[in-house]
Amino acid sequence: MDKFMIWGGERLHGEVEISACKNAVLPVLAAALLAETPSVIKKAPWLKDVDTMLLILQALGVTTKRSFEGDVTIDPTTLKSWEAPYELIRKMRSSIYVLGALLGKLGKAVVSLPGGCVIGPRPIDLHIKGLTQLGAAIEKRHGYLIAEAKQLRGARIFLGGPFGSSVGATIDIMLAAVKAEGVTVIESAACEPDVADVALFLNKMGAKITGAGTPTLTIEGTKELHGTEHTVIPDRIEAGTYMIAAAATDGDIALLGAEPRHLEAVIAKLREAGVEVFEEEGKIRVRSTGTKRPTDVTTLSYPGFPTDLQAQFMALMSITSGVSRIVEKIYPDRFMHVGELGRLGADMTMDSNSALVRGVPSLSGAPVMASDLRASAALIIAGLVAEGETLIHRVYHIDRGYVDIENKLANLGAKIRRVKAN
Ligand code: EPZ
Repeated sequence: MDKFMIWGGERLHGEVEISACKNAVLPVLAAALLAETPSVIKKAPWLKDVDTMLLILQALGVTTKRSFEGDVTIDPTTLKSWEAPYELIRKMRSSIYVLGALLGKLGKAVVSLPGGCVIGPRPIDLHIKGLTQLGAAIEKRHGYLIAEAKQLRGARIFLGGPFGSSVGATIDIMLAAVKAEGVTVIESAACEPDVADVALFLNKMGAKITGAGTPTLTIEGTKELHGTEHTVIPDRIEAGTYMIAAAATDGDIALLGAEPRHLEAVIAKLREAGVEVFEEEGKIRVRSTGTKRPTDVTTLSYPGFPTDLQAQFMALMSITSGVSRIVEKIYPDRFMHVGELGRLGADMTMDSNSALVRGVPSLSGAPVMASDLRASAALIIAGLVAEGETLIHRVYHIDRGYVDIENKLANLGAKIRRVKAN
């Protein structure tokens, strides 16, 4: 398994290009199988999770092609199976999107149950509840979800869960509802830009969705969808990660192609912490000139502060003088990074779903273990400011969701090298 070696102490400076959004492109790829003709997803990010989704689509018989520039063509005319195998589904939770898409397209789906993951339990009850309300009969057998619907019918679906709205359930239900007979209304729908982008893609395919990006989504079912071309939104979590890295290293960087409207909570929190953020045409500039202030953060559904940036913000607060409190409201157990940040010298106390962070003057490099995608990003940020060498094990997590991170960081002046597995 590859590792990252980081020599801390460099201030990030320069420009970095933000890639297309992982959490939007994955459902968009699954959505493409709903059409009767091929779609092209322009400049899809070169990520392991994208590779996995393409393998799942191929296992269903869909023909996929990727150009040198990264444009992905999905040809659903060769779709021949409704069964998504465990070996692929277990690699990535978002493969559950083929459940909604296959139900919409074929009225039948056999999809391996995705299971939990290191950031805590990841139930899919809301997906099942919504699809059942559309008329699907769903049962769990031998680790698989077996779903069938003679005819999906529009319904009113309330999707609020114990931790707020669900991005995945909103999208999965939307993927089935676009082909249902009649009108579906999803109340308490997730408002994340990822949901709005998938809705935009579906509308370009001929679907009739209104209200995407608000808590009430209305979907008028259509009989046939056609292929289209789409460029996915920029990745707000990738952008937020570089913004926080710039703040932590007292750097000055410009994020090209980032969308400030998707990052308002993050921009507000960085400004509260004393970091300068400039929203310019087609880019965001982040500059930190030294002293920062401790800042409390509570993660919430969009437009709140994203859980996918909680770990990175904690790394920043760990070297910010004073005490800050970080509360996790989406995944109460998403704190695997706390122990590893502690190995680098961070001082934190956990209490249920919150962490009290006491800023230390400096971190010191050490070998650490990446536990999941965003925790890995937090360890990289910590490694960039730590004195000496930080060796991060298991960086395959980061390859799932950050395009070419070591080269992007190196171009910003970081001293980072991938140590290839033998
Ligand atoms: C998406 O996961 C993202 N993944 C996650 O990013 C992100 O952390 C999460 O949304 C929240 O923003 C993708 O888009 C591929 P949810 P998803 O359903 O859709 C509970 C990353 O690092 N819930 O919005 O699976 C759930 O347990 C990943 O890129 C139910 O109770 O998340 C959580 O507490 C990690 N029942 C809350 O809702 C359900 O049926 C929000 O989860 C579904 C979810």
